[in-house]
Amino acid sequence: MAVVKLENVCRYFGSTPAVLDFNLETREGEFVVLVGPSGCGKSTTLRMIAGLEEMDSGTLSFDGRPMQDVPVQDREIAMVFQSYALYPHRNVYDNLAFALKLRRFPKAEIEKRVRHAAQTLDIEPLLLRKPRELSGGQRQRVALGRAIVREPDVFLMDEPLSNLDAKLRVTMRAEIAKLHRRIGVTTFYVTHDQVEAMTMGDRIVVMNGGVIQQIATPLALYDEPVNSYVAGFIGNPPMNFLDADVSEDGGRIRGPGFDFELEPSLQQRLSSRNQHEVTIGFRPEHLKPRTDDALPTMGILQGTIELVEQMGSTTDIRLTVDGHSLIAELPRDQTLQIKDAVELGLLAGRLHVFDRDSGDRLNVAVSEIQPSSVRSRQSNGKLASV
Ligand SMILES: Nc1ncnc2c1ncn2[C@@H]1O[C@H](COP(=O)(O)OP(=O)(O)OP(=O)(O)O)[C@@H](O)[C@H]1O
Ligand SMILES: [Mg+2]
Repeated sequence: MAVVKLENVCRYFGSTPAVLDFNLETREGEFVVLVGPSGCGKSTTLRMIAGLEEMDSGTLSFDGRPMQDVPVQDREIAMVFQSYALYPHRNVYDNLAFALKLRRFPKAEIEKRVRHAAQTLDIEPLLLRKPRELSGGQRQRVALGRAIVREPDVFLMDEPLSNLDAKLRVTMRAEIAKLHRRIGVTTFYVTHDQVEAMTMGDRIVVMNGGVIQQIATPLALYDEPVNSYVAGFIGNPPMNFLDADVSEDGGRIRGPGFDFELEPSLQQRLSSRNQHEVTIGFRPEHLKPRTDDALPTMGILQGTIELVEQMGSTTDIRLTVDGHSLIAELPRDQTLQIKDAVELGLLAGRLHVFDRDSGDRLNVAVSEIQPSSVRSRQSNGKLASV
């Protein structure tokens, strides 16, 4: 277990930054997820922690020990990749034992560690099989086992589940989370799947274009995204966005098909910034049928249903409001039909307001944002194209 600290870490390929000014300090045993779209610098960051990729500037330390000049084989890390990269001609036991043999561990110690890893991962009965005789999930477990036997200070996992089918991913996701709880090794886990990020991470680092957008716990990220990029990236179905204008006196917010009174706290924030052109955001589950008056709403949206998706536990509808597409996640309802007119209430206290140009979320005064969730500001945080 180690505290991993990256300070102002940059990596350029040519003149293009792959990772720009990356700052993060883990807690001991923390499970940190790096998430973001393809090409945003996740693997490059992981490879720099491993020592497989040079850093152009910045510092990296494990428990306060500088790592920049420590070669990969001397860093107490173990990596698990998307391709399990098992040795096809060796059986599971030898795959697990290989790295320890290379390091000339005594035979008894190798035996002990391999048995223990196999037990932990529930693959003891498979020790004599070759990789081709294993299922995808079993192979992935062997790949994890190879990392465990090293007893590293830091685990680095780069999309380790992306070769598996959807059902197995869910199972293995839970297995990795349980494994982490049991052995408690500080872990960096790369994924572009926001559901994996939300369900596995103690903290999530959202990256875009090589720049950290936000570092926060899953629910903090969901409830208080720092900008419209993070807001649009996290959550499925994704957040709805509409351009809106704040009235001169700051009391109302208007846009296609709506004219809402602003809550006093939001009024204050927006008028102190003298901000009139904004983008509003609200999550699909924060729209509700107008007829349901159990919860207070800030206003009503009138639209036409374009598509009804019965999810079993909820009914999701896609609707247009004044020519703009929105998604609502409603309580299960079998009466809703395509082309129906609907009236939906937007729950009070659930409106996010973003700067239309920079994408910054305006609900929260910058001084109130926890230091851990402040992002580097080199690139703007406008809408994710998801
Ligand atoms: N060896 C290299 N030479 C040149 N450019 C590179 C190299 N490795 C990565 N890049 C570039 O750096 C950027 C970040 O790449 P990286 O592999 O870190 O992305 P990623 O977030 O892991 O993406 P993915 O989800 O597709 O794996 C990309 O634009 C990529 O093209
Ligand atoms: Mg990658």
